Amino acid sequence: KNDLSTKEIGSRIIYFDTIDSTNNYSKRIAKDTPHGTIIISEEQSGGRGRLGRNWISPKGEGIWMSILLKPEIPPTEGMKMTQIAAAAACQAIRDVTALEAYIKWPNDIVVHGKKVCGILTEMAGELNQIDYLIVGIGINANNLSFPKEFKDVATSLAIEKGEKVDRKTLILDLLSKFEALYCHYIMEGKLDETLSIIRNYSAVLGKSVRIIKGNQECYAIVEEINDEGCLKVRYEDGEEELLISGEVSIRGK
Ligand code: BTN
Repeated sequence: KNDLSTKEIGSRIIYFDTIDSTNNYSKRIAKDTPHGTIIISEEQSGGRGRLGRNWISPKGEGIWMSILLKPEIPPTEGMKMTQIAAAAACQAIRDVTALEAYIKWPNDIVVHGKKVCGILTEMAGELNQIDYLIVGIGINANNLSFPKEFKDVATSLAIEKGEKVDRKTLILDLLSKFEALYCHYIMEGKLDETLSIIRNYSAVLGKSVRIIKGNQECYAIVEEINDEGCLKVRYEDGEEELLISGEVSIRGK
């Protein structure tokens, strides 16, 4: 029994003191585990970030969790789950901590320009139907320090707020927002509610950014987040491109 008000998200909760990675664990059990299961750990010994990076996940300081989903959608729609999670996380952080959180497309949440939350969505399945989808959410909630190499780019809610955050309240709020946005998308086929949050709290819309693709780097202005959730950018030479997600990294200029 728990205090969740959601219907399908969190129907089952698997909790660990320590695990390699909640995303890895979710993958291992995905086949025999129901839609909506939450996997959460106090600590990850091999937390993973996007683009093959590590994700530091110290004991008791953060929210390290994965949501296992089995929606009837093709893999091309998978990225929308990342955006639903980003919108839910940003709104939950704002409502629970009163901090001004922004979304750095497609999946980072920043406070005062530094990262407090990252999302790693992974999926398996066929071309026209996924088997399952894992939305991994990492929130630096109560970390009080970061290794030197991350100090300029990462922070925690506790550092920015000056006091500890109640992780349980934040998780409950996030999951109920996630479920509302997720169900709206699955039932109506529309991402409109998610996109209005993403546009409202965008850290990149209308801004000049540095776009990093592999070892290429260029400057562009972000013109639009379209109805599919893609980022429309205009490069310095006037050329426009629609960025679909995944393989790009965006920095302030
Ligand atoms: C990123 O910004 O690079 C994504 C970070 C995602 C971290 C979370 S923590 C819970 C889940 N388990 C993992 O190993 N990674 C994600």
